[in-house]
Amino acid sequence: MKKSAPRANALLISLVPAVIGLLFLASPAGAAGSVEKGRAIAEKHCSRCHVVGAHNPMGGIGSTASFQMIAKMPDYLERFQTFYARRPHPAFLRIPGVPRWSNLPAYAAEFSITLDEVDDIVAFVKTLEKMPIRRKKRRPQNQRR
Ligand code: HEC
Repeated sequence: MKKSAPRANALLISLVPAVIGLLFLASPAGAAGSVEKGRAIAEKHCSRCHVVGAHNPMGGIGSTASFQMIAKMPDYLERFQTFYARRPHPAFLRIPGVPRWSNLPAYAAEFSITLDEVDDIVAFVKTLEKMPIRRKKRRPQNQRR
């Protein structure tokens, strides 16, 4: 046992850079999530109701804000970090470890994501912050019939 101690120490020391690397990964900068994973999740699940960047400019549900519109709000990061607890999402979104609001059946097709995937979505939405919003041209009031 004693003889192998130096070897074990050497092994531990050789692991130091890896451990430091892992600490960086676990830091808030590392927890920022993957833009590409976030984009894929948003296109698959969120674009049913929201316009998601350039993916479905004419899609979504008219009454539901586009992601690029929400990303213009000063507190949009918080809104996306907590969207799963904001109406209407708890009615149809399941997150392992997050209790359901009620046992009523979901009124929209259910889907499930993890909290890590919420970080991915947030990373992706940050790329929409500067995306211009196309607005419909409105006729001036006095030209309406
Ligand atoms: C079945 C439709 C539907 C799906 C699917 C959906 N949303 Fe929403 N979402 C809504 C509606 C409707 C609102 C507007 C709620 C309101 O104005 O009260 C909304 C609002 C939001 C908001 C703003 C919340 C607030 O309180 O400001 C965020 C952020 C959001 N959704 C993110 C997402 C993300 C991310 C996904 C995909 C993982 C997603 N949504 C999927 C319907 C949906």
